[in-house]
Amino acid sequence: MAKMWAGRTSGETDSLADELNSSIGVDCRMYRQDIRGSQAHAAMLGRQGIITQTDAEQLIAGLEQILQDLESGALSFDMSCEDIHMFVEQVLTDRLGDVGKRLHTARSRNDQVALDLRMYLRDEAADLQKLIRDLLQVLVRVAEQNMKAVMPGYTHLQRAQPVLFPQHILAYAMMLLRDADRLRDCVKRMNVSPIGSCALAGTTYETDRIYEAGLLAFDDIAMNSIDGVSDRDFCLEMMSALSILMMHLSRFAEEIVLWSSWEFKFIELSDAYTTGSSIMPQKKNPDMAELIRGKTGRVYGDLMGLLTTFKGLPLAYNKDMQEDKQAVFDAVDTAKLCLQVIAPMVDTMKVLPDNMRRAAQNGFINATDLADHLVKKGLPFRSAYKISGEIVADCIRKGLVLETYPLEAYKAYSELFAEDVYDDISIETCVEKRISKGGTSTGSVLEQIAWVKERIKTQFEE
Ligand code: ARG
Repeated sequence: MAKMWAGRTSGETDSLADELNSSIGVDCRMYRQDIRGSQAHAAMLGRQGIITQTDAEQLIAGLEQILQDLESGALSFDMSCEDIHMFVEQVLTDRLGDVGKRLHTARSRNDQVALDLRMYLRDEAADLQKLIRDLLQVLVRVAEQNMKAVMPGYTHLQRAQPVLFPQHILAYAMMLLRDADRLRDCVKRMNVSPIGSCALAGTTYETDRIYEAGLLAFDDIAMNSIDGVSDRDFCLEMMSALSILMMHLSRFAEEIVLWSSWEFKFIELSDAYTTGSSIMPQKKNPDMAELIRGKTGRVYGDLMGLLTTFKGLPLAYNKDMQEDKQAVFDAVDTAKLCLQVIAPMVDTMKVLPDNMRRAAQNGFINATDLADHLVKKGLPFRSAYKISGEIVADCIRKGLVLETYPLEAYKAYSELFAEDVYDDISIETCVEKRISKGGTSTGSVLEQIAWVKERIKTQFEE
């Protein structure tokens, strides 16, 4: 069948060429945005007297019917149409005749596709915000319910200093708050309407771009028609924000994998978020956490792919740009799925505080506090540090830990050591004395929880 754009050419294209050219398989998911955008366009054309009011009304009603029919299943996508825009216009014209053919006045698919994609992605960004909020709420709950759990905090994956488990969990809450902020920020620039830029140069008709943008809830209009049709920064920004989000999820997922290993056993995942092995009967594998870690690479790939596609593209529209949707949809779908899985995975995981404490009690994670004990008695920190290091080495030689090292032995290193050394190096003291803002003492962690809760309330309402 000849294409809608037949005229200059016969419109008869090779079938594999069609396959390469066609995007309806990917962009059909924007049907709702395409129809809403076209309705606003028809309304603007009618209001400006570019088409008659009657035609505008018929177009709007016809488009509404197409939307309903697509949603009820009475109408399905015709995959032989090049893209969603051609499909909707084709059906409209089949149904309304000549009136349908008036819709595309003062418009091009170049500004239309940019419009649809911005509308689609701002909705997805709103969904993503909700999913991030859900995960934040889970993190706050896990923190609040495990205020007594002490675990080793790590640097270089070596036990470093004891921390409250909630202190560690809240670090992820901080990352997610920034992720939500980044997404919101990119929506500011996304929510600018390109429609009316037309093919690239604007139009001779007396359109009202501001009115049309307002109908579609845009905050502003693109101020240059060439930029209006060429700009995909909003896709790249969204994928950048999602890449950073996925990087955070992958770090968390990695810790979940570690923590659920027998070597750590700080948590146990619910069966719903694990799989078995087809050969090893004892296995309970954290596949979903691993996949969240793994899929991060995919989202990075989507971002790098589109950055590469756009590199060196001349202005204005080029067909290369059609590749934008596959990349950004994949990034959005992947991030949404990962958020939807990690939230209940964390919500249902069993926290094993006894194992965390056992790990915190070995490995000399109170050695800094041993040094601080001497500093408290007047020794300069660097000297105290050296003595503490030597004591740790002696403990290792003798198979002792700092808590079981005799006072006489301590005194052999420094006369400043006194009976209260044991209080100063107890795990409780190590945690509770870290009262600096943002530190791991109970008071400070409770303050962080309150802060995060307040941010959840203010950052996500709107
Ligand atoms: N399917 C196209 C895309 O996604 C729509 C714009 C086509 N414009 C054009 N002049 N061929 O980019």
